[in-house]
Formats: sequence, structure tokens, C-alpha cells
Amino acid sequence: MRQLLARQRGKKHNIPIAVLISGTGSNLQALIDAEAVNRLSATIRVVVSSKDTALGVKRAQNAKIKTEIVRPSDYSTREEHDETLAKLLLRSSVEFVCLAGYTCIVGPRVLEAFPNRVLNIHPSLLPAFPGLNAPQQAMQFGVKITGCTVHIVTDVVDGGPIVAQGAVPVLDGDTTEALAARILAEEHRIYPQVVRWFCERRVHVNGRMVTIDRHPLDDEGDG
Ligand code: GAR
Repeated sequence: MRQLLARQRGKKHNIPIAVLISGTGSNLQALIDAEAVNRLSATIRVVVSSKDTALGVKRAQNAKIKTEIVRPSDYSTREEHDETLAKLLLRSSVEFVCLAGYTCIVGPRVLEAFPNRVLNIHPSLLPAFPGLNAPQQAMQFGVKITGCTVHIVTDVVDGGPIVAQGAVPVLDGDTTEALAARILAEEHRIYPQVVRWFCERRVHVNGRMVTIDRHPLDDEGDG
């Protein structure tokens, strides 16, 4: 049985995806690293950045991934920006769009073009602490456990169906920086795993309920 599962999982899935970034791109790097060792079941076909100075652009270039810069300030309306992005993503023939520290709101054109196929990672256990500076919000509120969430993007910011969450304890004497770094490490663990689940067609979305076909080998650190 275990051999059969291992064989099934060894099956090649090379689903083309896009990653959208605005900054450091450490989650992008986690996805690049997972792809390099065949643990993503995806090929990152294009990285789109809202800023040409983003460190993530360098990471993509180092990995020889095509990059595109789409700056919101270059468009006179949100709709134009949304339309351009949707066209670019459709032209790239990607199946999934993964937001990884992308700071722009994804508009209806992109969401209509990729229904239930735009993912985001957020540094809190949603629905707690949506929006900006989530680790700081968690510290200020005094929660004992926070973490990160991968969710499907809808028109409600940070409000879409939840696919996976990782818990991170807040420690006595923690600083926002230390907490944010531990959350980020957990993000790097769960985001590639979730992308893999999607690319292996193991995710089922029913309204807000998301279920995953789990494999017994999932717990062996091989996603
Ligand atoms: C990550 O912590 C991600 O969860 C967060 O931005 C950071 C990007 O880091 N995203 C949000 O807050 C979205 N609401 P990275 O550029 O190193 O991946």
C-alpha cells in the first residue's frame, strides 16, 4: 500500500503556476526550492512583481524564471491594472496564481479568470488579524498562539476559504521581529505543501469548506 502511494506520488505533475510578489520574496524562494527538489508538482512559469526593486525579482532571475513588472502606478485606473494582469496571466497559460507578499488588491478580472485558483499566504491565523502588520497586531492583542494561513483569494480581502494553517506560539518576552521570523519559517513550510496539493488535484472546495485528500505519507515531511 505504501509503495503504491509512493509510486502515485512520484507521478509527474508539472502544473504551470505564477507567483506574484512585491518584496523580499522568501516565500517565492521556498516555492523555487520545493520545485527544485520535485516537491511542488508545479513549474513556476512567471513571477510578476509590483515593484522592479523587489528582492524577489532577483531570486526569480537567479532561478532563471521569467519575470514581469506590473506597477499599479503605471495605470490610471484599478480596472486597467487588473485587466493587464489578467491578460498577462492568461497569456502565460498558468493554472494557479500564488500571491506571496503581494501588496496589491487582486481585482475581479483576475479572480474571474482563475476561479478558486488564486492563493494567498497571510501571517496570522485568519480570521484574526487580517490586513497589514499581522504579527504586530497579534503581539499587541496579547494572543498566545498565532501563525499563518493559506487561503483562496476572493473579493473579501484576507477573507476567502481557508486551505491550511500553521500555528506559532507567542513566547514570553517575544518581539514582533522574532515572532514574524518564526511565522515566516512556518509559511515556508506550509505554502509549498498547499501548492502541491492543488497541483495534484487533492483540494476540494465546497463553499467555505476546503478538504484535502490526505496521503499517509504526508506526515513524513515529504508533503
Ligand atoms: C509574508 O509574511 C506574507 O505572509 C505577508 O508578507 C510577507 C512576505 O514575505 N503577506 C501579507 O501580509 C499579505 N496580507 P516574503 O516577501 O519574504 O515572502
